Amino acid sequence: MNMDSIDLFDPDIQENWFPAYKTLLEEAPVYRIPGSTTFVITKYEDILTIVSDPKTFSNEPEKYGGEPLIVHPEARQYYIDHGLGKETGRTRWPLLGMDPPDHGKYRKLIDRHLMDRQVLRRTQPFIEETITELIDEFEASGSIEFVKEFAIPLPVKIITAMIGFPLEDIPQLKIWSTTWTLPFARGLSLAQEMEVARQGVDFQNYIRDIANERRKRPKDDVITHLVQAKFDEKRPLTDHEIASIVDNMYIGGNETTTFTLTSGMWLMLKDPSIYQALKKDKSKIQNFTNEVLRLESPTQGLYRTAVIDTEIRGTPIPKGSTIHIRFGAANRDEEVFSCPEKLDLNRANCSRHLAFSRGEHGCPGSSLARMELNIAYEHLIKRLSGLQLTPKQNDFTHHPGFILRGLKELYLSFEPRSGKV
Ligand code: HEM
Repeated sequence: MNMDSIDLFDPDIQENWFPAYKTLLEEAPVYRIPGSTTFVITKYEDILTIVSDPKTFSNEPEKYGGEPLIVHPEARQYYIDHGLGKETGRTRWPLLGMDPPDHGKYRKLIDRHLMDRQVLRRTQPFIEETITELIDEFEASGSIEFVKEFAIPLPVKIITAMIGFPLEDIPQLKIWSTTWTLPFARGLSLAQEMEVARQGVDFQNYIRDIANERRKRPKDDVITHLVQAKFDEKRPLTDHEIASIVDNMYIGGNETTTFTLTSGMWLMLKDPSIYQALKKDKSKIQNFTNEVLRLESPTQGLYRTAVIDTEIRGTPIPKGSTIHIRFGAANRDEEVFSCPEKLDLNRANCSRHLAFSRGEHGCPGSSLARMELNIAYEHLIKRLSGLQLTPKQNDFTHHPGFILRGLKELYLSFEPRSGKV
């Protein structure tokens, strides 16, 4: 592919990013999207530098003249007038969209929960139980559409229960979650942004109501932990802060894990030698999970804003420019990963990928996600014999979009076995 044919908003390129990444990595590692002030960064070392330097590369675009996530003033105003941010004049209190030192003070509250070994140890049996129940449901049938029957419900159930939302609210939570992510793709119409704002406000109010309930009747869940927590060890969190931490956690953990689960089954079964190797030696599953995250990173890229006039690899970057960091490309950077296109179960540095990013904003759910993925692959391989991609039913197309990558559907077949039906 040559530079002239690169249009990152072209659906054909989005379906298979990798030829475009190869060209960008080789010919234009700091690539300005024509007609914009956005620079796309693809080299591994450059992205590592950017995410490790929040003083130069901020997560608060508006402060430095960059483009806010919600662009249309009417949609912003609706969010402010009807949501929980009236007093602060903010739409969604941003965890992703915040810089140090305050960002770290919020992260401490999340990390204490999501990255705590004991919390994770306590969560493991619930993950195993949920996986067992999901497989029980379809084990006897001999075939499934994997996304709908496994990859969506698993992470949703885990994070819904951990946060403390009632499981019966999952259908509505799924709608809020999907709508929340839309602005990251950029270029929404006013009508679309108004819908994002309306759904966002409903979600905030729903979280506030549950927080009020937990103040009266505490439980062992994230919302209770947050209503009891102190920001900077000094004051309780406001409802707006709680709602924003919770929505970031809820959304962060859903589609990303769904997409990785699905890509993993696809990569495992399209090359039967990988499936056989994992069946023979389950200790390779952790490497497999890392290779899936590296090759099919569900978050292909995210944003930062240049705080000052700076440069990357000699290219001047004016203050206020949008920096688009492309994790999916960095994870195929030949300077870091040899034969980057190959899924290698013995790759020595397979955990160095940037699928979870690094630095201040590096994913706090990475240990939980890895646990879900490793246990899921292990149980699926153990319980479903003769797994294969169902012939003639799969077209292997991905959801269109600039940021997230995931298969729309994946039909799998296996030997039917009488399960708990
Ligand atoms: C395979 C699964 C996952 C992937 C690939 C993933 C990836 C990422 C990435 C790339 C970021 C952005 C970091 C940055 O801007 O530098 C992020 C942030 C975040 N993730 Fe995840 N994530 C996953 C699962 C989860 C789970 C399970 C949770 C929660 C239970 C979660 C919660 C979050 C939160 C709250 C943030 C914002 C952190 C901040 O800005 O400080 N993620 N994740």
